[in-house]
Amino acid sequence: MTQKQLSQLLSSMTLEEKAAQMTQLAPVNFGFNCITPLTGPDTGLRVHPKTAASIGSVLNCDNAEDMIYIQTEHLKNDPHKIPLLFMADIIHGFKTIFPIPLALGCSFSPDSVREAARIAAEESAASGIHVTFAPMADLVRDPRWGRVMESFGEDPLLNSQLCAASVEGYQGEDISAPGCAASCVKHFAAYGAPEGGREYNTVDISDNVLRNSYLPAYRAAIDAGAKMVMTAFNTVDLVPSTANKKLLSDILRTEWKFNSPVISDYNSVGELIEHGAAKDGYEAAEKSLVAGTDIEMMSTHFTNHLQELLDNGAITEQMIDDAVLRILTLKNELGLFENPYKDASADAETALHLSEKNRAAARRIAAGSAVLLKNDKVLPLNISRGSGKIGLTGPFAASPYILGGWSAGIKTGVSLYEGLCGKISPDAIHFEDCGDLGSCLSGNPDIPAPDKDFSARFNDCDTVIIAAGEHQDDTGEGGSKAFLRLSPNQELLIRQVHDAGKRVILILFSGRPLEIAPIVPYCSAILQAWFLGTESGNALADLITGTINPSGRLSMSFPYTAGQIPVYYNHFRTGRPLCSENADSRYVSRYLDCPSEPLYCFGYGLSYSDFQYSNLQIFPEDSAIGSLTACITASVTVSNVSDTDGCETVQLYIRDLSASIVRPVMELKGFSKVFLKGGESQTVTFRITKEMLSFYKDGRKTFENGSFLIMIGRNSSDTLNKELYITEHLFEKEIS
Ligand code: NOJ
Repeated sequence: MTQKQLSQLLSSMTLEEKAAQMTQLAPVNFGFNCITPLTGPDTGLRVHPKTAASIGSVLNCDNAEDMIYIQTEHLKNDPHKIPLLFMADIIHGFKTIFPIPLALGCSFSPDSVREAARIAAEESAASGIHVTFAPMADLVRDPRWGRVMESFGEDPLLNSQLCAASVEGYQGEDISAPGCAASCVKHFAAYGAPEGGREYNTVDISDNVLRNSYLPAYRAAIDAGAKMVMTAFNTVDLVPSTANKKLLSDILRTEWKFNSPVISDYNSVGELIEHGAAKDGYEAAEKSLVAGTDIEMMSTHFTNHLQELLDNGAITEQMIDDAVLRILTLKNELGLFENPYKDASADAETALHLSEKNRAAARRIAAGSAVLLKNDKVLPLNISRGSGKIGLTGPFAASPYILGGWSAGIKTGVSLYEGLCGKISPDAIHFEDCGDLGSCLSGNPDIPAPDKDFSARFNDCDTVIIAAGEHQDDTGEGGSKAFLRLSPNQELLIRQVHDAGKRVILILFSGRPLEIAPIVPYCSAILQAWFLGTESGNALADLITGTINPSGRLSMSFPYTAGQIPVYYNHFRTGRPLCSENADSRYVSRYLDCPSEPLYCFGYGLSYSDFQYSNLQIFPEDSAIGSLTACITASVTVSNVSDTDGCETVQLYIRDLSASIVRPVMELKGFSKVFLKGGESQTVTFRITKEMLSFYKDGRKTFENGSFLIMIGRNSSDTLNKELYITEHLFEKEIS
């Protein structure tokens, strides 16, 4: 359709039809009996057949047959034959499930994220989905919050790069092309910072923190072309996001020039009433629309009140028309007026879903997302004849329920036991079922402890793999937790097996950093498996046996204890930082009973190779007196001093040593993954740009001359450092 035709269509619509276009419901809410996954409270909503005929979009219909049926029936009834837009939560894969986003964050690989999104788009487009509610760009610092699993982690730069890659993967070059879908970035804004990590709780952060830390990833997704934005459940500066004019109009539309639809989160228009930010549905509709919400998800305050609001002059027809035009434009960009079914086809579903090719990609990407946290020379396993059996136990050892949340389309993946049996002769594995051990919080708290003689069953093994962690349903939306330790019986099992003289290899399944300090001393190796998706067991077996060398690096810090939370690497400087000179003083910023640092920091992860860093060089050496240059660079030599080929993630951090506002102790400004053969060295060079040294202050991006500490290393607490004085004129010739 041309722009002119779209405008003509818009002007032929009644107000009632426009309001319905601005409404998204699940099929059951507007007259279809198809069962779709419920992703929020069941409000029992039903709409009048007249409204139903003009509804704009559908939530979470997940198969081609239902989609084709609903679209066909709808087109018979809609007075203007406007196709429905089908949207769903495709978060880390559709049928082929990839690692949870927090794990994908550990891959430090935009390519992997792009590829996972591409495959997810192809598989879901075959089932008739046009818009995916991903990526979740919410920065996270609090592992008590269940949805950290959906985030790429605690760092603005990593989060931004991976969100952009995700949008590119979902959308491809052209969202109307086969296998492409529109991407809806969420939850705007700062949903990842709920007080106390409690789901849906208040978010209260300063504007400087909002802009410097929380907003960049949403912005990156939008700059990558994301076609939709979802509001958040939380408040920002005490105004719920869905009615937050500063966020939706001033920042999103005016500053960032975003001109595609904004959708509310699930009933978040209606929840303005519960927030106490609107006294009734009339006011909730008014405030959301005026702030900049175009589509209302799973509530009907727009259809109920727009006429009255217009009659009372509380809103203008222009506001409604702008919103509807944005929706029609997106439908047009997807090519739905010409082909309302787009890629939906049962045959395409059969060909694409869980195809061998997709599973191979999932296995490779999963292996790149696990993080080796500890290794006392026990991994990779050396399985040679006569070396005894490998013990295997733990609640997740044979469990196929290791996909992670948001995998409603499919329930099970390859278990660790199955994966190991594909790599090692099953005869070489001694598996013992230990039961659930209370690994699921919502399960039975009286689960029996492992019996005292349990570990004696492994008398034919020196080494026992224990697959422990938290149940996948204990993470995700509504999955906040105050206690982050393994269940007492899992800890007991680990101690007992260790005390029986076995080397324990802990494979840790979780959707968040858990509090594992109490059991680290009892483990010879720890592999953080997160939830790696369909190919979990195969990917883990690849790593455990050394077919693949671990390369994941933590995208989120692991606390010693929940009492430290939030503990994140890029925290602000204080007036009394702890350092070697004041280590004996009481009056420094620290805990009396626990280190200030995390147990495992951002960027941390081991490899079977051994990498060394040397020769940090900055060019020009002293920029204050150096001649004008178009380029400041920092380089380091990375050497693989082992015999094992491996991949290292070289990380560039910068600290602004003095500024007009307090700046973080360090910020990731670049990273580079290098593959080094055993014995090989490589020089890795980063360009330092003005953008990297700039920050938001009072709503504006600013650069201030001064000294900066340039740090390059293997993780956020192990770097080579050099100080450099940098003035703005150095960048005058900067080539972008
Ligand atoms: C609520 C969640 O917050 C959001 O992420 C999701 O996309 C919607 N429900 C729809 O399922």
